[in-house]
Amino acid sequence: MVESGAEPVTSLYVHVPFCAQKCAYCAFYSEASSGELMGRYVRALIEELGRLAADFRPQTVFFGGGTPTLLNLRQWEQILNAMARLGLLGAPEWTVECNPATLSLDKARLLRSAGVNRVSMGVQSLDQGLLERLGRIHSRAMVFKSFDILRQAGFENLNLDLMLAIPGQTLAVWRQTLAEAIALGSEHLSAYEIIYEEDTPLYAQLQAGQFDVDEDLACAMHEELVERAAAAGFERYEIANFARPSLACQHNVNYWRAGPFYGVGPSATSYVRGARTKNWSNTQLYCELIEAGRGAAESREELVPLARAGEAAAFGLRMVAGWPFDEFRCRTGQDLRGEWAADISRLVEQGWGRLSPDRFQLTRAGLRFADAAGQMFLR
Ligand SMILES: C[S@@+](CC[C@H](N)C(=O)[O-])C[C@H]1O[C@@H](n2cnc3c(N)ncnc32)[C@H](O)[C@@H]1O
Ligand code: SF4
Repeated sequence: MVESGAEPVTSLYVHVPFCAQKCAYCAFYSEASSGELMGRYVRALIEELGRLAADFRPQTVFFGGGTPTLLNLRQWEQILNAMARLGLLGAPEWTVECNPATLSLDKARLLRSAGVNRVSMGVQSLDQGLLERLGRIHSRAMVFKSFDILRQAGFENLNLDLMLAIPGQTLAVWRQTLAEAIALGSEHLSAYEIIYEEDTPLYAQLQAGQFDVDEDLACAMHEELVERAAAAGFERYEIANFARPSLACQHNVNYWRAGPFYGVGPSATSYVRGARTKNWSNTQLYCELIEAGRGAAESREELVPLARAGEAAAFGLRMVAGWPFDEFRCRTGQDLRGEWAADISRLVEQGWGRLSPDRFQLTRAGLRFADAAGQMFLR
């Protein structure tokens, strides 16, 4: 029996905390910034990467943000050269998130030649009015242009991020975006229902009563998404994620399966040997700490095995395959049918869960409320 604590780390997340402009809904740690801080961040990041275990050879790498493609060619070259020196290149899956307004053919080619083989593009909507409402810096035309650039640069595994239940988005507008996004022919789709995050302009507008949340409309949009994605040959493997067969994002699957990972950069989380550490969400402070030869972690939390297993259960139920009992026991050392038997029965009675001899999984109805279902498993 292997507990997650003893497993080798095979995933690396790198947080790039810069955006050209903050979107109205977004609570990820990022800021619009000067060239000077970006240069300083790149140097600190390279230093932090150099502190990872010397024999660490990631199988998945994910550069997220923020907007990684906001870094210029020179900054990318510095990072890629450092990764080569540190033996961090060559991951079978290497994703970089991109905003369609921040991509050039030169940048795409540089990333592809270094071994990046998956790009995740923040499209959100293909309705120009909604893009503006969301505070996006890109136009709908830029989505099509960037998609072509990525194909031209040789990328064969592209994800498009979409958002649904955006205030002002009708079912007809969602259908149109979905149809146009699917017609682009990407290998992967992520479609997130909008979350009203505190301290965002959209949240303030909701609080001020400038629009209402329409649950029925959101449900209808989900239905449309699941149907259309399936008809187009995508497999739904997580609540919001759809992939061509065998092209599920392995980096994210590792998160949902509660596997270990290193995270570097401001605000990044690591999960190693059962302990979760989180870097400061402050780029200036992050740089100062690293430059002074100190760690950049703000907090460290060590969960007891049962709490860890409860979190793993909750996360893993986001996946359509649910939790195979054997895999859950290997990962956590706990029996899902033991400690959580009553929770499983309740979900089955409600029609939200399905119990088979080898696994427990949420039904299509249950996946819609996976956060509430997952809460029941926390210990
Ligand atoms: C870090 S961003 C992606 C890359 C790039 N920063 C961009 O936006 O183009 C990750 C994705 O999370 C989703 N997202 C961010 N904030 C969200 C929110 N409040 N509700 C729902 N989805 C959100 C968006 O689809 C976004 O593309
Ligand atoms: S959604 Fe992407 S581009 Fe917009 S603020 Fe968040 S991280 Fe930046």
